[in-house]
Amino acid sequence: MSAAQREPVGVIGTGYVGLVTAAGFAELGSDVYCVDIDAAKIERLRAGEIPIYEPGLGELLERNAERMHYATELMPALEHARLLFVAVGTPPTYSGDADLSAVHAVVEAMPSGDDGHALVMKSTVPCGTGANIKRILRERGKAFSYVSCPEFLKEGSAVGDFMHPDRVVIGDDRDWAGEAVTELYRPLLNEAHGGVGTGELVRTDIASAEMIKLAANAFLATKISFINEIANVCEALGADVVEVARGMGLDGRIGPKFLQAGLGYGGSCFTKDVSALKLLAGNSGYHFQLLNAVIEVNELQKRRVVSKLQRHLGDLAGKRVGLLGLAFKPNTDDMRGASSLVLAARLQAEGVHVRAYDPIAEDEARRLMPQLDYASGALDAVAGADAVVLVTEWPQFVELDWSEVAQVMRGTVVIDGRNALDPDAIATAGLTYEGIGRGVGA
Ligand SMILES: NC(=O)c1ccc[n+]([C@@H]2O[C@H](COP(=O)([O-])OP(=O)(O)OC[C@H]3O[C@@H](n4cnc5c(N)ncnc54)[C@H](O)[C@@H]3O)[C@@H](O)[C@H]2O)c1
Repeated sequence: MSAAQREPVGVIGTGYVGLVTAAGFAELGSDVYCVDIDAAKIERLRAGEIPIYEPGLGELLERNAERMHYATELMPALEHARLLFVAVGTPPTYSGDADLSAVHAVVEAMPSGDDGHALVMKSTVPCGTGANIKRILRERGKAFSYVSCPEFLKEGSAVGDFMHPDRVVIGDDRDWAGEAVTELYRPLLNEAHGGVGTGELVRTDIASAEMIKLAANAFLATKISFINEIANVCEALGADVVEVARGMGLDGRIGPKFLQAGLGYGGSCFTKDVSALKLLAGNSGYHFQLLNAVIEVNELQKRRVVSKLQRHLGDLAGKRVGLLGLAFKPNTDDMRGASSLVLAARLQAEGVHVRAYDPIAEDEARRLMPQLDYASGALDAVAGADAVVLVTEWPQFVELDWSEVAQVMRGTVVIDGRNALDPDAIATAGLTYEGIGRGVGA
């Protein structure tokens, strides 16, 4: 891919989305002016440190170090770039709505009387936010253009997702800004759209672009909750959800992805985006019934492991349980919405001594769960345990030597919370395997 000099861009917010987007555009040839209010983060970035764990991101930033500029003020970005990508957080409020305060802080910080810039919204925002921001900009006399360009990257494979997107969604008012964003993404688009990459272009209006992002996440969450319910029925009826999902997923209309039963979905996005869409629908007068069930199934799913353990061990008070993995999925240090948070709290409430290990997320986990007992490795986490629960399917747990595990455990129970382990290898080691929805232990 040509890295010829291209349009400079500003990126406001250097979290998972902002930093990957910034590094990606630098790789494509742009000078990138990053802005973050977190001064410590900007210092670390200037010093060549990567504040998050994301495979491949370090190499990308290092390779493009000369094109990357970091500041806590907006001015360098405003001076050098027309397109200002907004990638600040939109966490849930207590009510479950999206908290747009960081987005509005960015809007407020834009200078008035400007006519050469555009805000390009990467943050996930409720449908209607763009219209609202455009109104505010107008009222404040800020002649900014506005583009919705929702992000679909997945933590853990974010760099690859940026470079090889399924689609690029651009919602705009058919003005220069929409054209400029399309041009910026051009190399990543497929041949039909003049690129050399993989992405289909969805050029649409702002409200539809906003809705595409929320609907996509809600649909994926629905798929996960659906297969988890099938898993629970499989447990009652003696079927194996892994076989069922395989048989279902081979149907081209269904597809195999997001059909892995487990401890429920987590992460920063699904939980908050499903809730935000449900409330957004409610606020506009429509009761989105399906999403209520999706959310409830997911919450219950995180807790089902507790009853599995009770079935095996009886009263859990005083028992020792080793948790393998804490991050919401492998290859990330992100603990937001992780099933481990609920599971560990529930186990501790039952009087269990919980000892946990995660190869990358431990620092963040310690911040959120300071009361847990943290182990130095997988074997250390399971030593003396009555039961072990696989929470995050990091490859090193999948490849564990189960005869070694059997030697150090006090009990024999292995709950495979991600259906990622080899039941035969575990049984051969003399341990008792139970997955999620695998026809055992109804
Ligand atoms: N993480 C994901 O996998 C993912 C994927 C797709 C979309 N999204 C969406 O992208 C957005 C960002 O998510 P994230 O995970 O990167 O968040 P994050 O919390 O990792 O990063 C947000 C960054 O914005 C900074 N910030 C906050 N207010 C600011 C301001 N006024 N000016 C400058 N910087 C500011 C914060 O300091 C932080 O560094 C969210 O809306 C999220 O829903 C996230």
